[in-house]
Amino acid sequence: MRRAIYPGSFDPVTNGHLDIIRRAASLADELIVAVVANPSKKCLFTLEERREMLAGCLEDLPNIKIVSFAGLLADFARQLDAQILVKGLRSAADFEYEAPMAHLNKSLNSGLETVFLLSSPALSFVSSSAVREIAALGGDISRMVPVSIAARLKDKFSL
Ligand code: PNS
Repeated sequence: MRRAIYPGSFDPVTNGHLDIIRRAASLADELIVAVVANPSKKCLFTLEERREMLAGCLEDLPNIKIVSFAGLLADFARQLDAQILVKGLRSAADFEYEAPMAHLNKSLNSGLETVFLLSSPALSFVSSSAVREIAALGGDISRMVPVSIAARLKDKFSL
């Protein structure tokens, strides 16, 4: 069983994440989307909301599981018996950040191979932080997130 893990904050999930998830799911028998519960990072959406939003966007993919985790990713991947760690790269800046992470994760779990997928060019400018900021300021995020996520952001900022 080739099991891959794709970790992130997903605050909120974007079309960029969903593109990587769909492509990674076609390369593995099972893809675990792991939502980080990071108490030190202030998220707009709760852990439960982030999981729920992801689940709503991925209903059609049979080989995906959505889980949450706290602590070291390398340990969590070992617990799940995942051999592949998927990361998306939008730019050289992402690579600069992710390359040492990949080495660190490998040093913590030698059975975990990081695989980088290049983001699709049309989505290379999309990030959760940009989506949050544009939504907060009333801008158009319709090309960056699914309709269901745009609606959740609208609700959040109209409260
Ligand atoms: O979507 P994000 O916020 O960029 O995702 C970051 C994430 C969750 C991949 C990263 O923070 C992470 O791996 N956290 C788990 C803690 C850990 O293992 N840290 C050491 C990495 S070498």
